[in-house]
Amino acid sequence: MRNRLDDDNRADNNGVTITGCSKSYLVDQREVPVLRDVTLNIEPGEFFCFVGGSGCGKSTLLKMIVGLEQPTTGTITMGDRQISGPGLDRGMVFQDHRLLPWLTVRQNIDFGLREGVATNREQNIDEHIQLVGLCGFENAYPRQLSGGMAQRVGLARALVNRPQVLLLDEPLGALDALTRQQMQHEILRIWKAEKTTMVLVTHDIDEAIFLADRIAVIGNRPGEVREVVSVDLPRPRDRGDRRFDALRKQLWDSIFHPTSTTESEEPPKSNPSNVSQSDETSAHPCEIH
Ligand SMILES: Nc1ncnc2c1ncn2[C@@H]1O[C@H](COP(=O)(O)OP(=O)(O)OP(=O)(O)O)[C@@H](O)[C@H]1O
Ligand SMILES: [Mg+2]
Repeated sequence: MRNRLDDDNRADNNGVTITGCSKSYLVDQREVPVLRDVTLNIEPGEFFCFVGGSGCGKSTLLKMIVGLEQPTTGTITMGDRQISGPGLDRGMVFQDHRLLPWLTVRQNIDFGLREGVATNREQNIDEHIQLVGLCGFENAYPRQLSGGMAQRVGLARALVNRPQVLLLDEPLGALDALTRQQMQHEILRIWKAEKTTMVLVTHDIDEAIFLADRIAVIGNRPGEVREVVSVDLPRPRDRGDRRFDALRKQLWDSIFHPTSTTESEEPPKSNPSNVSQSDETSAHPCEIH
């Protein structure tokens, strides 16, 4: 594996600061507010998660960080640079893998690799195939891969440009429960190896607690930060631990029973107090819909 210490600035410049960001869309000549006054500081190298109900503006927030959307008011900076458009310093992985079906694994990764990123292009691709555990599948086509393998290719394609910040928009949402847990371990391994700042959107409270250093709960319509919760548990985290359980309840309450006047989500039928260790491999009892 290459020496990751060749870029001394990497660890210093990959924090994201969101200051007073609001976003509205124009729909039928009417301004619809989507996000309101979001202010957050994502630390360099941090694993940060956003959770919140459907439509609260999570993807919009990621698109603003990656530079595909601009805030209506407020600013987003990375290090000391204001984000005004997409750049190689930020990569994004989407819910669906978005691989090109007529290209192999290797060609899909090669397709995403920008000129000048690596001195040795072939070696860089090899290293990323190895990083996501796909050695031996270089020449497979997307139709020959499982869902989890296709998502690994999506991860490799985003990482191959060596982004300082990786934005993950529900990348595991379409996977079965077992593959999803395997991929959570993979993402943690890659995060540790690459020292990339990770910003993950998920509907799955357990997934957020398992992965994140901090979790921001986004309230609904317009989306605003209700609470930022620190997860001070050692890794690898035990989903049966009572501190894990306490965080699960705290997040659940923040989403479904906020103390402020903000509109709350309709809670799904399942309740976090029913979640036991044996539920670990069942369908996601703590997903927000
Ligand atoms: N380009 C757009 N034009 C108009 N409205 C939009 C646009 N993109 C998103 N919206 C609206 O903004 C709101 C937030 O959308 P967004 O995709 O950010 O939500 P989300 O939290 O990611 O939801 P989900 O969890 O379902 O993915 C939605 O009401 C959506 O209809
Ligand atoms: Mg979304």
